[in-house]
Amino acid sequence: MKRVLLIIGGGIAAYKTLELIRILRKRDLEVRCILTRAGKEFVTPLSVASLTSDKVYEDLFSLTDEAEMGHIELSREADLLVVAPATADLLAKMANGAANDLASTALLATDKPILAAPAMNVRMWLHAATQRNLSRLKADGVSFVGPGDGEMACGEYGPGRMAEPTEIADAIASMLGGTTVQKPLAGRRVIVTSGPTVEPIDPVRFLSNRSSGKQGHAIAAAAAAAGADVVLVSGPVSIPDPAGVRTLHVETAVQMLAAVEAALPSDIAVFSAAVADWRVEPAWQKIKKGKSGAPALALIENPDILASISRHPRRPRLVIGFAAETEEMLAHARQKLERKGCDMIVANDVGGEAGVMGGERNTVHLVTRDGVEDWPTLDKTEVAHRLVERLAALLGAPA
Ligand code: CTP
Repeated sequence: MKRVLLIIGGGIAAYKTLELIRILRKRDLEVRCILTRAGKEFVTPLSVASLTSDKVYEDLFSLTDEAEMGHIELSREADLLVVAPATADLLAKMANGAANDLASTALLATDKPILAAPAMNVRMWLHAATQRNLSRLKADGVSFVGPGDGEMACGEYGPGRMAEPTEIADAIASMLGGTTVQKPLAGRRVIVTSGPTVEPIDPVRFLSNRSSGKQGHAIAAAAAAAGADVVLVSGPVSIPDPAGVRTLHVETAVQMLAAVEAALPSDIAVFSAAVADWRVEPAWQKIKKGKSGAPALALIENPDILASISRHPRRPRLVIGFAAETEEMLAHARQKLERKGCDMIVANDVGGEAGVMGGERNTVHLVTRDGVEDWPTLDKTEVAHRLVERLAALLGAPA
């Protein structure tokens, strides 16, 4: 069984590490925790200890701890050290090799890989000192997961929000290369489309949509963490390529279809991209404002990638579509399932209030020929995980 030494720093995001421990234990990993003095202000040693079924290490100079396990040993016996939340203070200590408490000492004493999940106020994150520490740590070989953009506990908006527990657990799984981590998609190939497509009108203008790519990228990452060989075909997005995934960057629907076809054969294909329904014949030169008024754009329908692959001679065993709807969601999703010939539609309401496009959370409904399953509102990474688990179960054990 692989062992993770989790160092819980003092930030409001510390509460999320309880969920992280639960996920890691579920994935058959042993978790031992160091709780910093500041971390203790946010989560109690008792809740951490009950989740890890182990004692929690807090104080560098506790004699009993030294007798049971020295701080050096504590980091040596782990396969991976994880710092979450990695506060500005912890990152500064790590970058400078400080060793004045148990957490920083364990981090300095280790020769094992380190993964940090930063979490802090946006201004602290963007501060030159933090960014300097970050590049030093990267150069030292420390890996990072997150932070993401979002509303923070302090009310500000921007980068600095700690990655979700499932995302951190995925990063841990891919770093451990896990023999013990469950890999229900080992030996399987998965294609995922994500993001918007961008259809040029002329060299400077285009037709597109508000897709962020977060849901599709999370699915690709979750499939890779589940052991699949993943090709992600992505339109232009502002989020990074997921680790452990072969990402192909495209712009238009026509390019996306070609990239998906070239990536066949595959066991599963998940079409989460928001493909622009129409394109125009692009002008070679920038269209000028003329006396004759606004130019008329002759819209040409784009190929339907999901429908083409569903009917492809080399159709993947499982073809999954998404349906972003603003009204009559389930009726439309059912029609899409039939019209496009896929096996499942993941339907979501992108109507005004929902804030799904670009947001972190999603409320989806799985529509198959057997019926509808409603899922609660979840983080997109959690939706990705559950979906991947479901697809692995549908596919069954590798032949
Ligand atoms: N899709 C696709 N290629 C297209 C259009 C859509 O592969 N040219 C896929 C999307 O990736 C998604 C599903 O089809 O998995 C449904 O997308 P959606 O935009 O909801 O459906 P549309 O076909 O555009 O239907 P409508 O505009 O009527 O809602």
